[in-house]
Amino acid sequence: MTGKNATERLSADAQGIARVAAILAQDGLVAVPTETVYGLAALADSAEAGAEIYRAKGRPDFNPLIVHVAELEQAEALAQFDDRARKLAVHFWPGPLTLVLPLRQGAAVAPAVTAGLPTIALRMPAHPVMRSVLRELGKPLAAPSANRSGAVSPTTADHVLATLDGRIAAVLDGGECAAGLESTIAALRPDGSWQLLRHGPVTEAQLSEILGEPAAVKTQSVEAPGQLAQHYSPGKPVRLDAVAAVEGEFLIGFGEVAGHCTLSASGDLAEAAARLYACLHEAGASRAPRIAVAPVPDDGIGAAINDRLRRAAA
Ligand code: TXA
Ligand code: MG
Repeated sequence: MTGKNATERLSADAQGIARVAAILAQDGLVAVPTETVYGLAALADSAEAGAEIYRAKGRPDFNPLIVHVAELEQAEALAQFDDRARKLAVHFWPGPLTLVLPLRQGAAVAPAVTAGLPTIALRMPAHPVMRSVLRELGKPLAAPSANRSGAVSPTTADHVLATLDGRIAAVLDGGECAAGLESTIAALRPDGSWQLLRHGPVTEAQLSEILGEPAAVKTQSVEAPGQLAQHYSPGKPVRLDAVAAVEGEFLIGFGEVAGHCTLSASGDLAEAAARLYACLHEAGASRAPRIAVAPVPDDGIGAAINDRLRRAAA
């Protein structure tokens, strides 16, 4: 679509938001900030725009996309909501939770977006800039993370441009993403069970509490392909649970382990989540041939951090 043209970098003001909405309305691709990571947005009902996302990301076409909405009504027009889905939406939306629900018959969504599945992944983002874009457009947006497939997710406009410059029309610069890790994905099944498809800022314990039962064990392990073993790759070998760097290593620290980049010197897990991808980008761009990462506790959002680190190291 944009071919070899340079990608526009737009400020997240009224003018930038209006420009982005105009590009999107014409099937263009734009990277937009959300509270989790930057998303590569395109109209969810456009087959052409959906195909462009896969092309720009170099993404395998079996991997479905998350659809973002501004209002609950837009979500209910796309998926079948039961009481559990409404309860979770009331509790966690807008916010970093994606619900996988049965696709409504005749829903206005391109088959490329759902990858032909009978379900759809939906999320109502909390970021004010993304919400303004969605409201201005008045239509749902498909948006995977704004990076080349398999690479580290972007939490700044610079991270987006590092892999997508010239491949997308524009990036809307909204500064750093507050949560820094992709949304939690929960699938609600018609038989009344639910599954955690991806760890994220909303924890499994928080979901179990609202749903009143623990997650069922996953049977289809590749259903959320963001969950493929190798993902979030910084492009060099990664060693986990390191308490010090050996020669040739860029150390990512946490707590008492001070690194070349430190996730959180005070041992704060929310801060560590927000900084994880920035540190992985910095480590990937550094001269060191290898990366080492300090141990991070598995509590709360630590489970999502360790999930991403294991995949970065795979
Ligand atoms: O925080 C986020 O969720 C970010 C921001 C931009 O909103 N988006 C994001 O999208 O992480 P992406 O495309 O990188 O990850 C989407 C994940 C993939 O693992 C995909 O397989 C899964 O959602 N997914 C999408 N539709 C699904 C479905 N119907 N069933 C199961 N998994 C699905
Ligand atoms: Mg991704």
